[in-house]
Amino acid sequence: MNQKKLLYIETFGCQMNDRDSEIMRQLLANAFEPTELINDADAIIVNTCSIRGKAEQKAYSLLGALRKRKKEKPELIIAATGCVAQQEGAKMLSRMPHVNLVIGPQNIYQLPDLFVETQRQGKGLVATEMVKSFRIPPFLPSIQDGHPYKRFVTIMQGCNNFCTYCIVPFTRGREISRKPEDILAEVNHLAAGGVKEVTLLGQNVNSYGNDHPVASRTGFAALLRKVAEIKGIERIRFTTSNPNDLSLELMRCFAELDKLCPHFHLPVQSGSNTVLKRMNRKYTIEHYLEKVATLREFCPGIALTTDLIVGFPGETDMDFQATMALIEQVRYHSAFSFKYSNRPPARACDFPDPIPREEKERRLAVLQQRLQEITLERNMEYIHGIHRF
Ligand code: 5AD
Ligand code: SF4
Repeated sequence: MNQKKLLYIETFGCQMNDRDSEIMRQLLANAFEPTELINDADAIIVNTCSIRGKAEQKAYSLLGALRKRKKEKPELIIAATGCVAQQEGAKMLSRMPHVNLVIGPQNIYQLPDLFVETQRQGKGLVATEMVKSFRIPPFLPSIQDGHPYKRFVTIMQGCNNFCTYCIVPFTRGREISRKPEDILAEVNHLAAGGVKEVTLLGQNVNSYGNDHPVASRTGFAALLRKVAEIKGIERIRFTTSNPNDLSLELMRCFAELDKLCPHFHLPVQSGSNTVLKRMNRKYTIEHYLEKVATLREFCPGIALTTDLIVGFPGETDMDFQATMALIEQVRYHSAFSFKYSNRPPARACDFPDPIPREEKERRLAVLQQRLQEITLERNMEYIHGIHRF
């Protein structure tokens, strides 16, 4: 008879969180097996995202709804992990006393111990301390648990860019790159298990290795080349990149590495230089377009995707029109677009001239309508076998 208990994980947010959820499932695999049914679970992990207000509300509403479940089943363990957990820490426990564990992204490796401790002590515990010396432990993924052919490999955590709208540097901390040998060991292990496609993950992969000593540093382009040498791996992708840090060397990889999928996710955020400046993006649209042109030179047919924010504080109608003009110029294959959302302590919360909600919604609807049309046009090009640039 199977003695294992059942674990349910709900994951919000980005691929980093998806990968963290896999890791947590694996860390608890001795005692728990996964279930898709939240009502059957003996333990529930809510892996939260705080990138926009809406993501945070979703996490809180799920955690709030679990209060009733905990009353019915007091031995149920409820853990809140991820970025909201990091941001709220002990506040989350006082707001949601039915939650057993509040665990930040750097602390997930303590999960098995924390599960034991919360039961032993019979009280809620918080593990959200972030230390400068933190290193992502070498951790080989389970081959059985996960997609048979495609996997995510986290290569770094955190971000040093401090874009003024963004909460990530506060929840994920400063950039910490994994050692190249740990990453290569992980990809080798996946390849030996039959995995064909890996996506290398980081908030800003272009600055991979910048926190390692110069003498022994492997940069991102060099890392890609090493991953491409691994037998069995047929397709390599990566995300995400800040256009400011995008190097010529990395762009050249698209011309030279057959295994690199011809897709680049290059978040632009706005088409207006004044807005970009206030966002602290550190590039101009002219620089951005130069990089787009170089990428297309190295890799004709490359699919470009992006992220866009409308309604940043002080965004004028002219600024918005500049974003509309940019999407006509680049003709993105697809794009994620969002209404600006205040995320304290990010600096833009204090910027003047907030845009009213209705106006943000209007701009987003106009933008998304046109983005969808362009995506359709792009897809039609594939159907007809024509690539226009
Ligand atoms: N408001 C709206 N969108 C945001 N993003 C990040 N922070 C915010 C915010 N405060 C968007 C950016 C980023 C993507 C992951 O989420 O477009 O690239
Ligand atoms: Fe959300 Fe950013 Fe945290 Fe990912 S890193 S979960 S996108 S806040």
